[in-house]
Amino acid sequence: MGAMNTVVNWTVSVLALGMMLVGAVRSSEPVAELNDDLPKVRGDCQSCHPNEARDWAESRHAQAWESETFAQTSRNRTLRMCLPCHAPEPILVKGFGEHPDLRAEDRTHGIDCISCHQDADGAYHGTLGTKTDAHATVKNEKFGTVDMCATCHEIFGTVDWYKQSEWGKDPNGCVNCHMPVVERPIATGEGLPARKARIHKFEGATPEMFQKGVKMEVAPREGQLQIKMESVQVGHTVPTGPEYVVVIVEARFLKGEQELAKRQTLLADNVAIDGSDTRLKPGERRVIRHPIPEGAETVQVRILHKRNRDLPDDKARVLYEETVELGG
Ligand code: HEC
Ligand code: HEC
Ligand code: HEC
Ligand code: HEC
Ligand code: HEC
Repeated sequence: MGAMNTVVNWTVSVLALGMMLVGAVRSSEPVAELNDDLPKVRGDCQSCHPNEARDWAESRHAQAWESETFAQTSRNRTLRMCLPCHAPEPILVKGFGEHPDLRAEDRTHGIDCISCHQDADGAYHGTLGTKTDAHATVKNEKFGTVDMCATCHEIFGTVDWYKQSEWGKDPNGCVNCHMPVVERPIATGEGLPARKARIHKFEGATPEMFQKGVKMEVAPREGQLQIKMESVQVGHTVPTGPEYVVVIVEARFLKGEQELAKRQTLLADNVAIDGSDTRLKPGERRVIRHPIPEGAETVQVRILHKRNRDLPDDKARVLYEETVELGG
């Protein structure tokens, strides 16, 4: 929802855009579907690529600058070393693998279409080899590879972990998990064929992704609660990212509504703090055990995700939740 609010702010005039589209498409009926709440992005990509625009608006890339937790940790966006990757110039200008420069305009759009797709000549890169009068395109086999994502994501070790994982040899490993393929036309216009397109939501720390990636099993065993976690479909640690980002495995023992005890286990990169790294590694199986307190009837287990470890628990994102009867 936060994403949509921001998007509405950027839409200088939703009405003007709507009228433009009505003018362009005239009599055909999908107009309503096209004009409503489409984010207006640099380059007006949304007017011809509405699916990519709508997906992207939900992504964290769209939030990279506005993010509250980014503001908290970058001294309200004044620490200059922190800014470039969160509102970059097009990465194709310096080339994959080179940290981008901070751009001057429209920083609130974060990592937008132009940041990833536009080169120094103003052409848009992809892998499909399409030709259009709308703009120049370049077929670039490196586009969408791990090397492209690594331009910004290598800094926190995500790519090193990836290379050691069972997916590490796949040059498209990041997008294969984070940008699922769908067959559909990739632009609006008469007679365009369905193509191999990729969803632009860049889902990462969401309940759906987490539950696909990590198998959870919660059960009482001889007076103890066992929480089993197995990383089955994650090409890096859980969590990954800067050390601000943490995951908490929480067990609340309850008698009726009353909380008898709360146990929390931190999955975090604490190397700079106490030398430990307790994140779940790719392929790792871990069992967390807690004694069950006298009189506990149920236990509620939750996985909490925080983009800044200083956030209170009620501001965390819940990636998983299960309540189990303790039969006592
Ligand atoms: C006036 C309409 C229009 C606008 C505006 C537009 N595009 Fe396109 N774009 C197209 C069409 C049409 C195609 C080709 C579709 C096809 O052949 O299936 C295309 C193709 C592409 C491709 C595929 C390249 C390939 O072959 O792999 C990319 C990437 C792309 N556009 C990015 C963008 C971005 C980024 C923006 C905004 C900065 C943008 N486009 C703005 C109409 C547009
Ligand atoms: C973080 C980088 C990134 C951002 C931001 C991004 N894209 Fe893409 N885009 C990609 C990748 C990667 C592919 C898929 C390349 C491949 O494997 O074919 C792609 C593919 C495309 C294609 C080809 C058809 C398809 O859907 O796969 C179009 C069109 C496109 N993007 C438009 C956009 C538009 C419009 C925006 C902004 C609303 C945008 N992209 C934002 C990385 C990005
Ligand atoms: C220009 C730098 C840059 C590039 C290139 C880039 N990213 Fe990102 N990405 C970021 C930043 C910064 C964030 C964090 C945004 C935030 O939450 O503030 C992010 C967030 C993400 C997330 C969401 C994490 C979450 O918290 O849910 C995923 C998934 C992701 N990127 C995947 C990719 C993939 C796949 C590629 C390659 C196609 C890619 N990124 C390319 C900078 C980049
Ligand atoms: C085998 C599938 C898979 C591969 C390969 C993969 N990821 Fe992920 N990724 C996931 C899953 C599942 C999650 C959600 C669990 C989590 O939060 O770590 C995730 C989460 C993320 C996040 C959010 C992290 C957080 O905890 O806040 C980012 C960023 C990300 N991935 C980037 C990447 C990049 C960059 C690559 C390539 C170097 C990559 N991923 C490769 C499955 C994958
Ligand atoms: C080289 C590029 C790069 C630089 C420089 C960079 N970041 Fe990021 N940042 C990223 C990427 C990529 C992610 C997504 C990581 C993930 O979730 O795995 C991210 C995510 C984050 C997040 C978690 C997402 C969010 O919005 O809360 C915070 C907080 C953050 N960065 C703060 C900072 C701070 C503070 C600095 C400066 C000390 C900084 N970053 C410098 C690339 C960068």
